[in-house]
Amino acid sequence: MECVTKINENLYYVGGSERKIHLFENMFPVPNGVSYNSYLLVDEKTVLFDTVDWSIGDLFLENIEFVLNGRPLDYLIVNHMELDHSKMVKVILEKYPTTKVVLNQKALAMLNAFVHSDYTSRAIIVNEFDTLKVGEHEFTFVFAPMVHWPEVMMTYDKKDKILFSADAFGSFGSLDGNIFSSDIDIDSEYYSEMRRYYANIVGKFGQAVTNVLNKAKDLEIKMICPLHGAIWNDKIDIILRKYKTWSSYLPEDNTVSIYYASMYGNTENACYALANALAKRNIKNIKMFDVSKTDISYLISDVFRTKTIVIASPTYNGGLYPKMENFLTDLNALNVQNKHVAIIENGTWAITASKLIKKHLEPLKNITLINKELRISSNLCNNQKLIIDEMADEIGKSLEA
Ligand SMILES: Cc1cc2nc3c(=O)[nH]c(=O)nc-3n(C[C@H](O)[C@H](O)[C@H](O)COP(=O)(O)O)c2cc1C
Ligand SMILES: [Fe+2]
Ligand SMILES: [Fe+2]
Repeated sequence: MECVTKINENLYYVGGSERKIHLFENMFPVPNGVSYNSYLLVDEKTVLFDTVDWSIGDLFLENIEFVLNGRPLDYLIVNHMELDHSKMVKVILEKYPTTKVVLNQKALAMLNAFVHSDYTSRAIIVNEFDTLKVGEHEFTFVFAPMVHWPEVMMTYDKKDKILFSADAFGSFGSLDGNIFSSDIDIDSEYYSEMRRYYANIVGKFGQAVTNVLNKAKDLEIKMICPLHGAIWNDKIDIILRKYKTWSSYLPEDNTVSIYYASMYGNTENACYALANALAKRNIKNIKMFDVSKTDISYLISDVFRTKTIVIASPTYNGGLYPKMENFLTDLNALNVQNKHVAIIENGTWAITASKLIKKHLEPLKNITLINKELRISSNLCNNQKLIIDEMADEIGKSLEA
């Protein structure tokens, strides 16, 4: 049965959610599923905004048929060609043979490559800031290259002041009936999943996000319709501010997180001693993460959140503990910047961890190392308490900086 939600007089939500999925992009855990949003406008012309993943294809086709109610589909606007949104493009173009696909040159090349077909004769190629009038509604296309892929664009509806924002402003998590931000508890958990989505999906491309935020600055935006997660019909100022912070790689919380690797608990114990020393200095919301136990997407999201981070690792076969190595590689891949970093190393016969951690930190922009480092020879000694205290003092100061 169709499951359609009316957004306003002419606009309908025709997407849906996949709840069985374990890993988004076969990589990121999505314990609460994910939604693939698609929108259908009924004006003098009918316009579909992006498609969905295979997994909800049947529902999607039923939804479209229900809203069209016998009318043809005139336009399909493709804002993003990643397959979670474009897998049904071919199906739609086959089912509705008079539909024109509206997209930019890069997106057309991708579509042709994915489908092994030439859709040029079905395409209306748009350039940045071109407009398309479909009756009362008129759209402008704002290009957003690398706000996730190079072909990404956003479509702005001048009449209703709606921004169809592609992956931007999206989140992990299914939509379970309610689709509007005003009807969902947008609590700290929602923002946290939104940050995890942002940091891992577009975190690397902060400058590209900043560029598109600047372009959109002069648009009056009453609603944002992203390709995943809630439709923003309120709190628009809040999420714009969050995106500004994340894309500038500025911390959200003035606190400390400790990311440690530990096989037998010795490195973990030292981290706990440091966490205690930090708490005694009245630092709140300290978090400790075992890099072996916590999926890396949560670690990365937390790094984006936090001002000062502690990296603690045993030496392992002359290198770093592999899970820590992986985490540090991802910090680079996602372009993490502007952090105060403290280092704890451990080892029993030839300790190299700190040196190797620093090598990973070297390419990152604006990293301030906490001068005091802790080297554990197998197990933290009582006489190292002074070092822990000095480290905690310096970390405390980093939060005031
Ligand atoms: C497989 C393996 C390889 C290791 N390689 C090194 C090494 O190359 N150099 C070193 O100093 N210690 C090495 N160690 C020792 C650990 O770094 C050391 O015992 C450390 O205290 C373990 O910390 P944990 O209790 O937090 O796991 C190795 C330990 C294991 C289990
Ligand atoms: Fe994407
Ligand atoms: Fe997506």
